[in-house]
Amino acid sequence: MGRLEETYQHSLQEPEAFWAEAATAIEWDEPWQRVLDDSRAPLYRWFAGGRMNTSYNALDRHVEDGRANQPALIYDSPVTDTVATLTYRELRDAVALFAGALAAQGVTRGDRVIVYMPMIPEAVIAMLACARLGAIHSVVFGGFAANELATRIEDAKPKVIVSASCGIEPGRLVEYKPLLDAAIGMVESKPQRCIVLQRPMLEAALDPDRDIEWNAALTGATPAACVSVDATDPLYILYTSGTTGQPKGIVRDNGGHAVALAWTMKNIYDVDPGEVYWAASDIGWTVGHSYTVYAPLLHGCTTLLYEGKPVGTPDAGAFWRVIEQHDVCTLFTAPTAFRAIRQQDPNGEQIERYDLSRFRALFLAGERCDPETLNWAEQQLRVPVIDHYWQTETGWPVAANCIGIERLPVVPGSPTKPVPGWDLRVVDEDGSQRQRGEIGALVVKLPLPPGSSPTLWKADDRFLGTYLSSFPGYYETADAGYIDDNGYVFVMARTDDIINVAGHRLSTGAIEEVLAAHPDVAECAVVGVADELKGQIPLGLLVLKAGVEREHAEICDETVQLVRERVGPIAVFKQAVVVDRLPKTRSGKILRGTMRRIADGERYTTPATIDDPAVLDEISETLERIGYAQIQPAVGR
Ligand code: COA
Ligand code: AMP
Repeated sequence: MGRLEETYQHSLQEPEAFWAEAATAIEWDEPWQRVLDDSRAPLYRWFAGGRMNTSYNALDRHVEDGRANQPALIYDSPVTDTVATLTYRELRDAVALFAGALAAQGVTRGDRVIVYMPMIPEAVIAMLACARLGAIHSVVFGGFAANELATRIEDAKPKVIVSASCGIEPGRLVEYKPLLDAAIGMVESKPQRCIVLQRPMLEAALDPDRDIEWNAALTGATPAACVSVDATDPLYILYTSGTTGQPKGIVRDNGGHAVALAWTMKNIYDVDPGEVYWAASDIGWTVGHSYTVYAPLLHGCTTLLYEGKPVGTPDAGAFWRVIEQHDVCTLFTAPTAFRAIRQQDPNGEQIERYDLSRFRALFLAGERCDPETLNWAEQQLRVPVIDHYWQTETGWPVAANCIGIERLPVVPGSPTKPVPGWDLRVVDEDGSQRQRGEIGALVVKLPLPPGSSPTLWKADDRFLGTYLSSFPGYYETADAGYIDDNGYVFVMARTDDIINVAGHRLSTGAIEEVLAAHPDVAECAVVGVADELKGQIPLGLLVLKAGVEREHAEICDETVQLVRERVGPIAVFKQAVVVDRLPKTRSGKILRGTMRRIADGERYTTPATIDDPAVLDEISETLERIGYAQIQPAVGR
């Protein structure tokens, strides 16, 4: 048995021993009473009874252990032409002081704080300051519209919101404050205070009764000490798309999260304390939480915060410049970033301009990694390129090539094998196990390992209903896939209405809710169609109300604008088309999957349950007219 297999079997057969050993990497104020608390199964808790502080483990501990002068965070911002470094001591002090400022606003253990900020050090400081106080942060991505921010405020009910005057997108400033004000205007649970960082490129208007400027909030604040919290206390809530417009508040606890993330740094990424690790993801996403902020700091690495894009800031050599300049050993990003780079620099001329001799590995996740992108990255970079699979819910990789344990051959199209801790299986609709090589639902046998979401924020029932009810005893990933004869995992498609746009997870249901609100729209469907750069993009199909005689193009443009306003630019909703009817089953379910296959020019079977097969021909014609669907002959018709 190889080292990986041995570790994997140990993690499944003796999970408590396995994770208790991993937990020695963390400093505990009080040891746990039970490694795995199954008293409320199928809701499990790890390290029950243990007490610790995540911020202490990410910062203070390293200052005390000799890393005080090592860079903890490098901020590299091509959009503001800034490079700044904070050592572990400097970051700890900044975090302690801002924690003091939050405490002065009445924030204590268990309170929620929303962080709505661009990729600047203050965002990381705000997150770690919450952790220091035992408060629960909820970071909201800057590309969402006010409405999305409002649903998150309403659900989390934050005491304080921390924001900034603006973010910077190539060619435009994103004004955060008007979005923040609009969102607060929409909710019933108003925050007591907003702390707003004024960036020099745009001054936001502050409400003197509610808002306080970041530096003013620091004035007179005294550094706060770390508050010892229960391992099972929530560290953060991160909202992610569900199948409706109501996002799901993924909860992450303190103890299990710290243990699991610290374990992954060596075992999956093969990175040592002191090295520079870079996850090029916005902190508004799960990758930004786990691998830009927490894991590298828990492991004593230097983390890199990049405020820029893979291309256009200023060119397709941006990533290589950063890697050379800051001695990055490992980069983690989404395949879409590499598709963007490849599109602009197909021969890798930019890569030749930089010294990448200390760069060891590239990790990709967030969406399916197409073999072409993987092969190109391997050829150009001449380092291992590792596709790995995980979700916001899982918090860390479920399947990966664990190069810190044993490096396995790369098979393009596969994120390699299940990671220790994850009993990943493929089942059919009845829950019986599929044969090797057969596609089915990807599920994980309970209990999930530490660091995975123990529940949804104030919604145990929704957690149980969404993830644990279809296959009792298992967590449903909502991905379909298979495991081959060699144990390699292949993730093929979502089984729900979630699509993946440039590595960002979006709910087609949420977009449909916005389209349906247009006064001329009677019915609609959104499908994720293939896109060369972004993997998928949403396409809207609209059925108009009887008697509407306005120009279709005008209505479609209005819906595009509406989605931008209500969901945000990140939805990349650029196209809608009017159709006479939508294809449905006899019970009225819209056949989104079939429409997607038609749009992508894939072969499709006319479902036996279809109400009227002629609708599919109409849809094909419409999609062909707007440039989709080089239709394959349909099978089974
Ligand atoms: N704040 C406000 N708006 C934002 C934003 C933010 N933080 N991030 C993106 N947007 C806007 C963009 O400006 C764009 O607006 P536009 O319609 O006015 O052009 C829109 O949202 C879509 O953004 P995106 O899909 O990111 O497209 P892009 O063309 O700006 O960039 C890539 C394309 C491939 C370079 C970019 O998607 C990328 O770097 N992806 C990496 C994905 C990633 O990090 N995933 C995280 C999981 S690992
Ligand atoms: P998110 O929660 O935003 O991280 O999105 C998680 C979803 O992205 C998963 O459920 C998958 O559908 C998809 N995904 C993430 N990583 C991969 C991967 N390596 N291969 C295929 N799909 C992936």
